[in-house]
Amino acid sequence: MKVTHSEIVISAVHPRQYPADALPEIALAGRSNVGKSSLINRMINRKNLARTSSKPGKTQTINFYRINQALMFADMPGYGFAKVSKSVRAEWGKMAETYFLKRETLRGIVHVIDLRHPPSKDDVAMYGWFKEHGLDVLIAATKADKVKRGQWPKHMKQVKEGLGMVPTDKLILFSSQTGQGKDELWSEIGRLTQASPSEELAETSPTQDHH
Ligand code: GTP
Ligand code: MG
Repeated sequence: MKVTHSEIVISAVHPRQYPADALPEIALAGRSNVGKSSLINRMINRKNLARTSSKPGKTQTINFYRINQALMFADMPGYGFAKVSKSVRAEWGKMAETYFLKRETLRGIVHVIDLRHPPSKDDVAMYGWFKEHGLDVLIAATKADKVKRGQWPKHMKQVKEGLGMVPTDKLILFSSQTGQGKDELWSEIGRLTQASPSEELAETSPTQDHH
């Protein structure tokens, strides 16, 4: 998709704060600091619309971004941040569960995983939970730029096996640094959000990304 317009709509905690427009929505889920916000910025060609940080636990709210008046991204707070208290973790669980199970416009989840490491216990539990609840989820294995090209197959296998993925499950190799995987992810998002896959969202961007 050629992104011509993107804006932050709201940082929400409670469902009554979720945007009321009925745009198809894609949620970004993943461990704290894995690169969810960076992935959004890369997808929409913005340096820092979705706030990123080297400190884990930056995003504590659900941040909604409207793209081309056609699509919504919901940037979920990261899970598995060791330093948070039990009560914060319980709050996170409630907020996430409410969102994933009640959000009517939700069409799919991009579950962001770090290509470098075996999936964490939380990654495995989260992925299992999405599948159990029949949610349409795909894996974006990010930070590919940090792994040598020759090692990609080995690391992809590690992610697939660690999560218990089956051959029909989708994994996209991604890097917010280089733009790798961006066109493929747009076409998957197009597939998830469009009734007819031939429509505009499914088109890949005409411009190549430069490093
Ligand atoms: P929370 O909001 O805390 O859950 O984190 P997040 O998942 O949104 O991560 P964020 O996008 O803020 O990125 C965390 C750190 O990883 C930042 O320092 C980013 O620059 C870095 N990062 C994210 N994606 C990539 C990538 O593809 N390659 C490299 N090399 N660094 C990345
Ligand atoms: Mg973030």
